Amino acid sequence: MVSLLKVKDLTTRLNVRGRQVKVVDQASFTLERGKTLALVGESGCGKSMTALTLMQLIPKEILGSIEGEVLLEGENLLKASTQRLRLMRGSTLSMIFQNPGASLNPVYTIGDQMREVLYIHEGIEEEEASHRVVNALEEVGIPSPKARLDCYPHQLSGGMLQRAMIAMALLLKPKILIADEPTTALDVTVQAQVLDLMRSLQKEFGMAILLITHDMGVVAEMADDVMVMYATQGIEHATSAALFDQPLHPYTQGLFAARPRRGGVKKRFEAIKGFVPEIDNLPTGCHFHPRCPHKMDKCVHGAVPSFVQDKSSVNCWLYEPTRKL
Ligand SMILES: Nc1ncnc2c1ncn2[C@@H]1O[C@H](COP(=O)(O)OP(=O)(O)O)[C@@H](O)[C@H]1O
Ligand SMILES: [Mg+2]
Repeated sequence: MVSLLKVKDLTTRLNVRGRQVKVVDQASFTLERGKTLALVGESGCGKSMTALTLMQLIPKEILGSIEGEVLLEGENLLKASTQRLRLMRGSTLSMIFQNPGASLNPVYTIGDQMREVLYIHEGIEEEEASHRVVNALEEVGIPSPKARLDCYPHQLSGGMLQRAMIAMALLLKPKILIADEPTTALDVTVQAQVLDLMRSLQKEFGMAILLITHDMGVVAEMADDVMVMYATQGIEHATSAALFDQPLHPYTQGLFAARPRRGGVKKRFEAIKGFVPEIDNLPTGCHFHPRCPHKMDKCVHGAVPSFVQDKSSVNCWLYEPTRKL
């Protein structure tokens, strides 16, 4: 069967101060029905831009170009008409944005915004629409959902707003939910509830989740598969189990070492040295080489190929198969 979502060599450039800058560089990954794929990496490495490219929601004013393929059940979304895309957003492909305020309009009530989604996509109005919206709010655990219909976004707490956003994203039962740091703005208890909620909704509807996070704890709890991103590139692909068992790329190993450990003697975090490079001034060769403890001469120039290692793949010369003569 054809994959639900197959992304091949996706490259996105933005216009930044008159120059074209790559923010996503040849990203390739696959998301299967009912599964969760996590995009992981430090802030600024291109995770949100990857998601916005898939949704084709990068504002025209800043978009330079998009290349590659985004195959949704075999159909290349990058070739789809504006009208087709509009129809698919929400119904097939839905996104919870990193900024909780971004997907809800402050000047309309929660009820009006959600009813409008139903009207636009399914032509459902009035009583029936309200009924569906109340059900959706109930499903995400919002107490007295009927009363919330007339609330404006600012009248809800952070956790409730996040739930309302999830309810809105799930209103049309999309095949794919893109969740961009869905719990970063929430305190720990609410965070756990929202993750639980996403998992149970996934079970119920069989939707696939593309989960963007910088938190390995969230990955451990949620993901089947992982793509680790560094400075615009996907540098390691693995199942979540394999990644936690044995991270391959020195950057991924650094991410794990930087995780706070629980219990025992308090250790200083072994953070990765240096900083994520500026997007318009990336190092040549492997973008990670200036920070890498295993740097070799060949890391400094030229693209690094992807090497297969068991079921994982990793863009790092350390894993170049040595040829026996
Ligand atoms: N509107 C914009 N104009 C120029 N550069 C941007 C814009 N939005 C994001 N970027 C740059 O694109 C890069 C990738 O950003 P992003 O995808 O948001 O990272 P992440 O989600 O991984 O933290 C960053 O270096 C960021 O500075
Ligand atoms: Mg982001």
